[in-house]
Amino acid sequence: MRLLAAAAGFIVLVQAAAQQDVALKDLMPKGMVIGVAINQRQFDGTDTAGVALITKQFNQISPENALKFQPTQPAADRYTFEAADRYVQFGVERHMQVVGHNLVWHSQTGAWVFEGAEGKPADRDTLLARMRDHIRTVVGRYKGKIHGWDVVNEAIDEDGSLRKSPWQVGIGDDYVAKAFEFAHDADPDAELYYNDFNLEKPAKRAGVIKLVKDLQARKLRIDGIGNQAHWRLDTPTIEEIDGALVELHGTGLKVMYTELDINLLQNIARGADPATANPYANGLPDDVQQQLTRRYADVFGVFVKHRDAVTRVTFWGLSDADSWLNRGRMNYPLLWDRQRQPKPAFNAVVDVLRSAK
Ligand code: G3I
Repeated sequence: MRLLAAAAGFIVLVQAAAQQDVALKDLMPKGMVIGVAINQRQFDGTDTAGVALITKQFNQISPENALKFQPTQPAADRYTFEAADRYVQFGVERHMQVVGHNLVWHSQTGAWVFEGAEGKPADRDTLLARMRDHIRTVVGRYKGKIHGWDVVNEAIDEDGSLRKSPWQVGIGDDYVAKAFEFAHDADPDAELYYNDFNLEKPAKRAGVIKLVKDLQARKLRIDGIGNQAHWRLDTPTIEEIDGALVELHGTGLKVMYTELDINLLQNIARGADPATANPYANGLPDDVQQQLTRRYADVFGVFVKHRDAVTRVTFWGLSDADSWLNRGRMNYPLLWDRQRQPKPAFNAVVDVLRSAK
């Protein structure tokens, strides 16, 4: 009996060692890249373990923050590209597909952008000029190095209408079209994407499809729809993910999962009791680990089933230690743990990709 247990233990060790050598990028269906959003410590090379893992596993990168409006243009007359240059160089050196995120968003954009004279809001022409200047300068700088851009991020509200963002209020509904026009002018070879979340919600998805069809009707270049995929263990359902994918691909555009993670913690009210607020502070229970493993296997099952439509899957962060979903708590939304060791979910994804080969 003890011999059997030892043998079983040995097999698990061998499997884990074997899985360690596997790289997701070598297992992806043809035409589908696998990537990760990286932070400053990674593209600066400070996080050496992270850099080794990123280089081994992925063939695409996205900037978690380095290429957003605020970090690249903190003031009207000041651009700061040091960090962004290092991010792009990190990917170019590794022959990775380098993506830009994002040019026009209602968040992480300096208040100065929307301010006009005498404390009034900036008018349409002023705001259009600032948007054009930013896009021309940023996209122009990385021409030929950045494969594709999230041109506009999160412009649609949950009911499918245009979000009343400062861009929409200041310029009007055509601000999205203007952004795509300016981006194409700045780099005619770059792919251009619209990026948003909760696309499994019918009303929101209908709003996104209306937006991209408007761009197509205006004969503006748009190559793909980015589905952020900030999901949970049981929402959206696999049927909802599958159905949304098919409908989005019905626009004729590429479908990409651009910010994938599986949030294991409930949203909490301020001042909530720590025990309920941070239930996994001392580690993840096995049953939840198994649920996460099944969830990732099911999700990747949909991606490989629709390999004709899905061209990219990007995780929003490398490991549980790097995830934005921690926010002072202990979350476990990704495939690698805080020691950068592969989790059972990683092995499950490997098995799905292998069985799809
Ligand atoms: O860089 C400053 C630093 O100088 C300062 O000391 C520190 C303390 O406040 O803040 C740092 O900026 C933080 C930045 O991340 C870089 O770490 C911002 O406060 C913080 O708000 C920002 O959070 C980012 C968030 O977008 C902002 O909305 C997250 O890292 C990033 O993961 C998250 O990513 C977004 C996608 O862009 C769009 N989709 C949703 C996704 C999650 O919110």
